Amino acid sequence: MSQPLVVGIIGLGTVGSAVASLLVRNQGVIKARAGREIVLKKAIVRDVSKAQAKLAELGIALSVSTRIEDLLEDAEIDVVIELMGGIDLAYDIAQKVLRANKAFVTANKAMLAYHRYDIQPLAKDLAIGFEASVCGGIPIIRVLKDGLSANHIVGIRGILNGTSNYILTQMLQHQQSFSDALKDAQALGYAESDPTLDISGGDAGHKLLILASLAYGINALPEEILIEGIEGITPDDMEFANEFGYVIKLLGIAKKTDSCIELRVHPAMISKNAMIAKVDGVMNGISVIGDCVGESMYYGAGAGGEATASSVISDLISFAQGKNSVMLGFKQPIESENTQSFTLKSIDDIYSRYYIRLYAHDKPGVLGQISQILGNHNISIKAFLQKETADKRIAKLLFSTHHNYEREIKDALNELEKLDFVTQKPYKIRIEDELENL
Ligand code: NAP
Ligand code: HSE
Repeated sequence: MSQPLVVGIIGLGTVGSAVASLLVRNQGVIKARAGREIVLKKAIVRDVSKAQAKLAELGIALSVSTRIEDLLEDAEIDVVIELMGGIDLAYDIAQKVLRANKAFVTANKAMLAYHRYDIQPLAKDLAIGFEASVCGGIPIIRVLKDGLSANHIVGIRGILNGTSNYILTQMLQHQQSFSDALKDAQALGYAESDPTLDISGGDAGHKLLILASLAYGINALPEEILIEGIEGITPDDMEFANEFGYVIKLLGIAKKTDSCIELRVHPAMISKNAMIAKVDGVMNGISVIGDCVGESMYYGAGAGGEATASSVISDLISFAQGKNSVMLGFKQPIESENTQSFTLKSIDDIYSRYYIRLYAHDKPGVLGQISQILGNHNISIKAFLQKETADKRIAKLLFSTHHNYEREIKDALNELEKLDFVTQKPYKIRIEDELENL
């Protein structure tokens, strides 16, 4: 009879408590697939009485304490799962777990976004699992590490954050306000403990960096890439998008061009007919283009306790089966056959179509001056809508452009903002209408 795989867990919140209950509820199938029992022995939290009350509600008997050493010093524990979140303390714990010669599982994309390349050398032959760190229940890490490993990855485009997709869907389909939709996402357990990370694009950025490491071996940090969130989107933008055949989604995009990797997260207008446009609510969707396989698309729950626990436990099962492949799927930078690694594309060099929203005093000559400034920056208008606002003196001007470099749009908008008849900071959304041409 094989020895059980003995596990300790840090964090019994939305994901941790779902892991504890799923290990009990699905123990038969988990044991059958793992080839041995997986036993959760101890949990670490900050508030023991809160955790005990939750465990009692779930009908789970489990030893709980506040001392991480209770896991590190327990020779029976083979694996520690970190489900507490945060960056510095979580990284410190990851190092301690690996130094204590225990395998490590985490759903913590924020910590991995900063420290994924620091952890690998410490692990040596120990297993590290992070399937739950990107897109909750979708096994996208294994797709890139294993399933598509024969491909050069041409590009990845995905809805990587469940909370922001839920908010955008509620605003568009149910006319819910931004703040009410966010409150619902928090109550449903989708949001981060600091939901700013969800709505500012930060969480999607963390996930994109993990995917880019698997696809290209690029070691970029969140501060080095373009990350914008959904905070500025208004019903006006959604209405314009709808009128011109688009929906607005928060996208994470990774593309390979020559020796550069382009990485960016931002709201984008995409054609209503694109597959990814139909990914609504808390669902995530990722399209990956490989040079041999072409495009493949992955869809599923991007957040929530049970969906994420499904991925956490899949890592445990894989460890129980004796699999402990290298964390990022490679030992040295990939895509660098001529010893030259990829560099990160400059944000200014991003080339896209744009939607621009302006509010301006409705008086003669205004449109002329605006189009003159756009023209001076090489920006050509593709579509234009002018609408009245509640204040009859102010007009809402909505444009879409042909392709431009990011620096051209940035400079033009800075100039427009300074005009005395422009009443609000101009707002832009990139238009990604060539999904097939990643
Ligand atoms: P959560 O509901 O806020 O739970 C966090 C848990 O960690 C709580 O039990 C908390 O204990 C414990 N904890 C926090 N700081 C601690 C510390 N210093 N020492 C010991 N325990 C500590 O968070 P969650 O939603 O489950 O998320 C956990 C991790 O999974 C995060 O990294 C998150 O990004 C990631 N994740 C979440 C989802 C999701 O849908 N929620 C999906 C994918 C990945 P107390 O309650 O006692 O404070
Ligand atoms: N807060 C994250 C989201 C959890 O909404 O996608 C899943 O990573």
